[in-house]
Amino acid sequence: MPVSPRDFQALVREARTCRRFVEDAPLSMADLEWLVDCARVTPSARNAQVLRFILVTHGPTCDELFRLTRWAGALKDAGTPRLGERPTAFIAILAPAEGAKLAPYDAGIASETIQLAATTQGWGCCIIYSVDRAAAAPLLKVPAGMDIPLVLGLGVAKEERVIAEMPADGSFNYWRDAQGVHHVPKRSLEELVVGRFGA
Ligand SMILES: Cc1cc2nc3c(=O)[nH]c(=O)nc-3n(C[C@H](O)[C@H](O)[C@H](O)COP(=O)(O)O)c2cc1C
Repeated sequence: MPVSPRDFQALVREARTCRRFVEDAPLSMADLEWLVDCARVTPSARNAQVLRFILVTHGPTCDELFRLTRWAGALKDAGTPRLGERPTAFIAILAPAEGAKLAPYDAGIASETIQLAATTQGWGCCIIYSVDRAAAAPLLKVPAGMDIPLVLGLGVAKEERVIAEMPADGSFNYWRDAQGVHHVPKRSLEELVVGRFGA
């Protein structure tokens, strides 16, 4: 067994979305290739492996793509990484625009795998749906017939993030405390498991 159950659960708990990064310690192209190599061997509907990836390291394209993304809607403007704390890399996940209805599931699996892999290195990841696709596609030279289901903002993590209890009012909004720690409420196991058959 390559990873103990305890270590795996600790990794999953630690792998919270990150929105503040050490901007002067950028990830390299080799770093991004390692992340995609982890995602490369994950489950895929029909094993068709329809996803493709565009890798963006620190530089003008990274800056421009950052401007096309929206961060932490629940925190209003406070959630957007500030200068000096912005992602130093992006991975854009591409999927066929038509004829691959299960591709969003593949994209989710790839995204979480990359988020877990990044966490093992002390890097942070933010899975981003809110991206201006009309502007991002030409910027990234996305091939005709491909969409961008998700982009992943990445960098060395510079944000403390913790799992919180769900508040009594049931609000699932994440929040930051006065020390800047990011709290993410998660529902209880009791709430999630809605059926049991057997012992
Ligand atoms: C499919 C998907 C889309 C997301 N899109 C965005 C996004 O556009 N911007 C953002 O800041 N976070 C985005 N997130 C991150 C979620 O806000 C985050 O997962 C949630 O707040 C729970 O935090 P956790 O990942 O630390 O558990 C997305 C996450 C998922 C799974």
